[in-house]
Amino acid sequence: MAGILAWILSLFSRRSEYIVMPLEQIADIADLPFLHAQGFSRVWSEEEFASLIAQDNVFGFTVRESGRSKRPHGFVLARHAAGEGEILTIVVSKAKRGEGLGRMLMEAVLRELHKERAEVLLLEVDETNASAIGLYKRLGFTTVGTRPGYYRDGEGKATGAFVMQRDLIRRGG
Ligand SMILES: CC(C)(COP(=O)(O)OP(=O)(O)OC[C@H]1O[C@@H](n2cnc3c(N)ncnc32)[C@H](O)[C@@H]1OP(=O)(O)O)[C@@H](O)C(=O)NCCC(=O)NCCS
Repeated sequence: MAGILAWILSLFSRRSEYIVMPLEQIADIADLPFLHAQGFSRVWSEEEFASLIAQDNVFGFTVRESGRSKRPHGFVLARHAAGEGEILTIVVSKAKRGEGLGRMLMEAVLRELHKERAEVLLLEVDETNASAIGLYKRLGFTTVGTRPGYYRDGEGKATGAFVMQRDLIRRGG
């Protein structure tokens, strides 16, 4: 009896396992605006995502629970041109934040850019976005510039952007 109870409790306490997969199936695109709306006031449409993903130098990843084929909990889109990577957008569903999914997505981008021998990864982030800035600093990004009044929030208020950079070439190795 105690064994069965422990087994039932373990089912509830077990942490989900997540997998990161390349964003290439057309089927993924339908899920993206819903997720994007959980992070941004100007939501990109399915058509906008489709035309970005159709570009040769744009790539991305989704993260979802492993096991069954479930809807993604987050995604990242990036571009690689002339040795420079750029994060176009990244979002994790509100319900799954703080569980390491954003980091898994960013690490997948870093691995891909290492494979392609890119030299640097750049991004812009709202100066008031503490969680995103925390994520990027944790991954070794540093602030290399600022753009005053770059973003507008949902109420039209302007906020500045930090330009952040992560070098990908290891010196002396
Ligand atoms: C930014 C975002 C993608 C982070 O995703 P996440 O899955 O919650 O992040 P993770 O759990 O992987 O966190 C990784 C690291 O980020 C940092 N971090 C995460 N949330 C943070 C917070 N609220 N405050 C400060 N640092 C934070 C931590 O250093 C954390 O590392 P740790 O867990 O070892 O402490 C998510 O908050 C999001 O989707 N936000 C809305 C969209 C957005 O702002 N996108 C970025 C636009 S530039």
